[in-house]
Amino acid sequence: MSSFYLTTPIYYVNDKPHIGHAYTTILGDVITRYHRAMGEDVWFLTGTDEHGQKVQKAAAEHNMTPIEQCNSTVVRFQELWRKLGIRNDDFIRTTEERHKEIVRMILQDLYDRDLIYKAQYQGHYCVPCERFFTDKDLVEGNLCPDCRRPTNEIVESNYFFRMSRYQEWLIDYIQTHPGFILPAYRANETLGFLKKPLEDLCISRPKSRLSWGIELPFDPDYVCYVWFDALINYISAIGYGKDPARFEKYWKNAHHLIGKDILTTHTVYWPTMLKAIGLEPPQTILAHGWWLIGKDKMSKSRGNVVNPMEMAEKYGVDAFRYFLLSEMSLGQDAAFSEEAFVARYNSDLANDLGNMLSRAVKLTLRYFDGKIPAPGVFEMIDKQLYGQVAEAVDGMEKAVRELRLDRGIEQVIGVVRAANRYMEQTAPWTLAKKGEMDRLGTVLYVASETLRIVGGLLQPVMPEKMDRLLKTLGVSGSFRFEDLRNVGGLVPGQAISDIDALFPRIQPLEPETAGNTKKAEAKKADPKKAEQGNAADSSAKHAAPEGVAITIDDFAKVQLKTARVLAADKVEGTEKLLRLQLEVGGEKRQIVSGIAKFYKPEELVGKTIVIVANLKPVKIRGVESCGMLLAAGSGERLSLVTVDRPDFPSGASVG
Ligand code: MSP
Repeated sequence: MSSFYLTTPIYYVNDKPHIGHAYTTILGDVITRYHRAMGEDVWFLTGTDEHGQKVQKAAAEHNMTPIEQCNSTVVRFQELWRKLGIRNDDFIRTTEERHKEIVRMILQDLYDRDLIYKAQYQGHYCVPCERFFTDKDLVEGNLCPDCRRPTNEIVESNYFFRMSRYQEWLIDYIQTHPGFILPAYRANETLGFLKKPLEDLCISRPKSRLSWGIELPFDPDYVCYVWFDALINYISAIGYGKDPARFEKYWKNAHHLIGKDILTTHTVYWPTMLKAIGLEPPQTILAHGWWLIGKDKMSKSRGNVVNPMEMAEKYGVDAFRYFLLSEMSLGQDAAFSEEAFVARYNSDLANDLGNMLSRAVKLTLRYFDGKIPAPGVFEMIDKQLYGQVAEAVDGMEKAVRELRLDRGIEQVIGVVRAANRYMEQTAPWTLAKKGEMDRLGTVLYVASETLRIVGGLLQPVMPEKMDRLLKTLGVSGSFRFEDLRNVGGLVPGQAISDIDALFPRIQPLEPETAGNTKKAEAKKADPKKAEQGNAADSSAKHAAPEGVAITIDDFAKVQLKTARVLAADKVEGTEKLLRLQLEVGGEKRQIVSGIAKFYKPEELVGKTIVIVANLKPVKIRGVESCGMLLAAGSGERLSLVTVDRPDFPSGASVG
C-alpha cells in the first residue's frame, strides 16, 4: 500500500488559534481524507511550536512560566481541531521529550561533523519573526525586511550551521524538481532569494538572552534557535532515529502545507538541514496565501482577528470547512467576510445542493413509496449528466493529487447545478402528472445516483452533512474513489428517508460594498424562490420592487444601448465573474458581470448585447465595471439580451 504523509506548520502557542491556522489544518484534514479514500496508508501530523522568544514573552505578559503558557494554549488548538472534525494521526509538541531528544541528537551529530561551528555574530534581530538579518537585508534603516518592524542590533558569540555549503545544490534541486515548491511562482521566489550568497545559519541563542529552548548538547550556555528546533518536528514525529522502518515509509512521500510567510524557512533552511543529515527533501512544499479581512491583514491591533471557533458554532462546522476550501484559490490571498460566507452558503449549499436533494427525496417519497426506482432506458440527457458526474470524479482525484482542492470542489458544485438544470429539463413533476412512471423512475434514479456520487465526493470536505445526505439515500459508510467510479451503483428498491433542509437558508447580511454580484447574491437567497424549487442564479440581474409602477420619466433616466463584445475573460480568483471589453458606438468600455457560469468567454465575442450605459462605475473585486448588461433569468438558466439583426451597429439606443 502506498504511503502519504502530510504535515501542517506547527503553531506558536503565544496566542489562541485564528482562521489562518484553521484553514491550513482543515486543508490538511481534507487532503488526507481524500488520500484515505484512495486507499493509501496516510499519516497526518499537526502540532505546536512551543519554544522561543514569542512564547517566552507571552508567558511573561501573562505572569506564567513558559510551560504554563504552552499548556494553557495548546488545549485551545486541540479543542478547536476536535470541534472542526480534524482527524490528525498525531499531535506533536516541541516540548515533548520524544522531539527534544531527536533535536539534540541532530545538533550533536552536525557539531561532531563540523557542520556546526562557533563564531562571533553581529547582526540585527527581529523579535516577532524570530530571525536574524544582516545589514544589507534591512529595509528603510533598521526595519525587518519581512514584517517591517524595527530590529535590535546584537553582537554575541553563537553557533552556526554551514548552510552556505548547500547553496548550489539547493538551486539545482529546485530547478530539477518542478513540483517541489508549489505554486511554481513560489519556487521562483525562493530561487530569487538564492541569487544572493547564502549565509550560514545562526542556530543558537545565549541563555542570558533567551532561556526558553532546547539546550545545546555541546554547550549548556546556549539554547537552540526556535526554527531549527521546530522544523525537525516533521521527522521526529514519525520515528526518525528511533523507528527506521516507520520513518522511511512515511518520509519517502512527505508533503508540507505552509503559509506563504514561512516560505524561506521551509524551502531554504529545511532542505539544507535535511541534506546535512543525509535525508532527501520532502516531495512537496505547498505555500498557500493569506486570509485577509477586506484588504487588510488580520491583526490583534486592528481588532479584526476572526475566531474560527465562533464561526463554526454560529454557522456549523461543515459549512465553515466548505467555505474556507472553496473560497480560497490555492496560492492566492482570499478575503474573508461573513457576508461572503453567507452568500456562498446560500448559493452553493442551500440553493444548489440542499435544493437538489430535497427535490429528489420528495419526489421519490411521493411517487415511489420512498424506494429508489429501477431505471429504464437511458436517454441522451441522462447519459450527459452521468458523463459530467464521471468527469467530476476524475477531476476531484486530479485536484487532490495536484493539491488544488478548490478546483475539484468547483467541478462538483458544477455537477450539482447541472443536476438542478436536469430536473428542470426533464420536469419530473410533469412526468408524474402525465403518468409516465417509467421515465419518471429513470429520472429520479439518475438524480439520486448523481447525489450519491456528489455526496461521496464532498464527504471529506463536509463529513457530517454528507453522511446525512448519504443516509437519506439509504447509503452508508465511507466512500473510496473506486466506489464513486461505479456510476449506476445505487441499488434500486433501496429505501430512502425524509430529511429536513440539509442546509437551512441563512438570512443574507447587508453587503459591505456595493457591487452587482453582491446585490444579486442577496437576492438569490430569497426563501420563497427556494421553496418553489427554482432558486435562480441571478448573478447578472438586479432586484426591483415588483408591482410598483414607474413613469416614462423614470424609465427615460435609464440609458439602454447596444454594445458589441470585443473580448471577454474570467476575473482572476473568482468563479462567477467575466470581464467584457465592449465597443459602444466607437467608444470602448469594460463591464464586469456575474455570468461566468452561463457563458464561456469565447462564446460572447462578436455578440451585440444590450447594456445600461449610464450606470455609475463600480469596482467589483477590484476590477472597474462601467455599466451593466441585460440578461433574462429563469430557474437555473440565464440568457443575454441580444439584438436579432446581424451587424446591427453598437451604440444604438434601446427603448
Ligand atoms: N511556528 C511557526 C511554524 C513552524 S513550522 C515548522 C509559525 N507559526 S504561526 O502560528 O505563526 O503560523 C502558522 C501558520 O499560520 C503559517 O503557515 C502562517 O502562514 C499561517 N497564517 C498566519 N496568519 C494567516 C492568515 N491570515 N491566513 C492564512 N494563514 C496565515 O509560523
